[in-house]
Amino acid sequence: MKMKTSLSQDSILLILILNVFKVVSNQPLHLSPYLEQGNIETAKRDSLVNDPTRVIPTSYSGLFTVDEVLKNHLWFWFIPAINSDPKAPLVIWLTSGPGCSTMLNMFYGNGPLKLTKNSNGNDSYERRVNSWAQTFSMLYIDNIVYTGYSYSDSGNKGIKTTKDYYTQDLYSFVQQFYKMFSEMKEKDLYVGGVGSAFKYAVSLAYKIHEDLQAKRDNILLKGIYAGSPLLDGRTQLRHIYEPFYSLGFISYKQMINYTQEDEMLNNLNEKKHYLNLESVIYKMSNLSLENINTFTLSPDTEINNVMSTDAIKSLLHVGNNTFELCNLEIYTQSADDVYQPFQTTELVTLLENYKVLLFTAVFDGIISSPGLEAVLMDMPWSMQSAYNDSVRKVWREDNVVKGFYTYVGNLCRVVIHNAGMHITNDQLNVTVQMMEDFWHYGCISNTPQ
Ligand SMILES: *[C@@H]1O[C@H](CO)[C@@H](O)[C@H](O)[C@H]1NC(C)=O
Ligand SMILES: *[C@@H]1O[C@H](CO)[C@@H](O)[C@H](O)[C@H]1NC(C)=O
Ligand SMILES: *[C@@H]1O[C@H](CO)[C@@H](O)[C@H](O)[C@H]1NC(C)=O
Ligand SMILES: *[C@@H]1O[C@H](CO)[C@@H](O)[C@H](O)[C@H]1NC(C)=O
Ligand SMILES: *[C@@H]1O[C@H](CO)[C@@H](O)[C@H](O)[C@H]1NC(C)=O
Ligand SMILES: *[C@@H]1O[C@H](CO)[C@@H](O)[C@H](O)[C@H]1NC(C)=O
Repeated sequence: MKMKTSLSQDSILLILILNVFKVVSNQPLHLSPYLEQGNIETAKRDSLVNDPTRVIPTSYSGLFTVDEVLKNHLWFWFIPAINSDPKAPLVIWLTSGPGCSTMLNMFYGNGPLKLTKNSNGNDSYERRVNSWAQTFSMLYIDNIVYTGYSYSDSGNKGIKTTKDYYTQDLYSFVQQFYKMFSEMKEKDLYVGGVGSAFKYAVSLAYKIHEDLQAKRDNILLKGIYAGSPLLDGRTQLRHIYEPFYSLGFISYKQMINYTQEDEMLNNLNEKKHYLNLESVIYKMSNLSLENINTFTLSPDTEINNVMSTDAIKSLLHVGNNTFELCNLEIYTQSADDVYQPFQTTELVTLLENYKVLLFTAVFDGIISSPGLEAVLMDMPWSMQSAYNDSVRKVWREDNVVKGFYTYVGNLCRVVIHNAGMHITNDQLNVTVQMMEDFWHYGCISNTPQ
């Protein structure tokens, strides 16, 4: 009788706990209130991603409130270096599209997880043998609300697509991150990502640089980096057909015709053209612009499926919010930012003071090497003429060409062979080695193997 009573009391307690847990787990984990109360240990404990199957490495996930007025909440996933090297640098990774989540690269790029199907045929994930998270502490931040699990209490009004505006949110994020993980202040910091996110990275790094100059902070900023960087839409996209021609996909006459047609469209309505760009080129060939050598597109549906399961939502503490891999509203609103004439001042200052790595890929159908060169050769930094006069070197291992590179001043410029726009996916091991060389030597070391 007594035993029975105590059992049923236990059951009631269990039901209560489960109910409390259910309520809690339906709410996203907001970490800023903990930090305000100085409750760092609770923030860390609650944000720990505790995967009993150990497929997901030890990591942390939650949201920081970065705009107190609009109540913008940025979601992150932080994976301390899997090899536990106490010297492992912190690498901030940002994604754009514009408007895509970093989870695109987590599962289809440099993250420690990749897609698979489970036994009942549903989309799932498994651990990658090699990834950037092996040797670097990777911090994936979805820095515009309504990408990934970032969101705003102000709805779409919280979406920030102009430079000063989104940089504020990112800067606030970084301050809070270091407050929570103060041990990371002793590690080297690299800020970067992919595509137009390089603009976010430059602005953020520049703001950190200003703090360092004014001795307001002691973050160990060492460098910035980007794959397929989109800095200056107008200049870069003018060269979009050149790789197609040099690879033989189109004739010389086609290249001239398309380029002129583009120029005319540009003059008519630049922004509208930016939004139609993909369809314009796509129409001529049906080639995938993401990798013009393979016709493959990123597995967006699969990533969305994986990121939307109750199980992953619970592991990542995002409540029952909706995951958004790529946000069309942000893409549309970003046209201004993409076509804003590129202000070189911040990047030039960074180039004079820190290491910079810029890599493109041979089969990228949008961000071409000639397009990026047009921007770089027109950038007034102290090593400009040396860069103009530089020659490329071949990065090879035995008889395999990994890419081509130039190292001038602080600038490491790499072109990756056999890859499209999703460079870290198409040539993961090569990019791991590139990042390690960048960390240790400033550029490709190319020591004979
Ligand atoms: C597999 O996916 C289906 C929907 O496509 C869903 O009903 C089912 O619960 C999933 N199974 C598991 C084990 O997640
Ligand atoms: C990448 O490197 C891992 C070991 O770090 C190796 O197991 C894997 O086979 C490599 N992949 C390719 C495509 O070379
Ligand atoms: C490009 O080719 C099309 C089809 O032949 C033609 O109508 C158009 O006028 C050409 N554009 C230019 C700028 O030559
Ligand atoms: C592209 O694909 C569409 C749909 O599959 C097809 O209708 C069209 O003819 C293709 N165009 C070219 C140039 O191959
Ligand atoms: C989460 O939200 C979806 C719809 O937005 C709903 O169908 C589902 O029941 C919710 N899940 C939980 C655990 O509350
Ligand atoms: C570098 O090359 C570009 C493109 O040809 C040119 O406009 C620029 O003046 C050159 N700068 C220097 C310092 O040589």
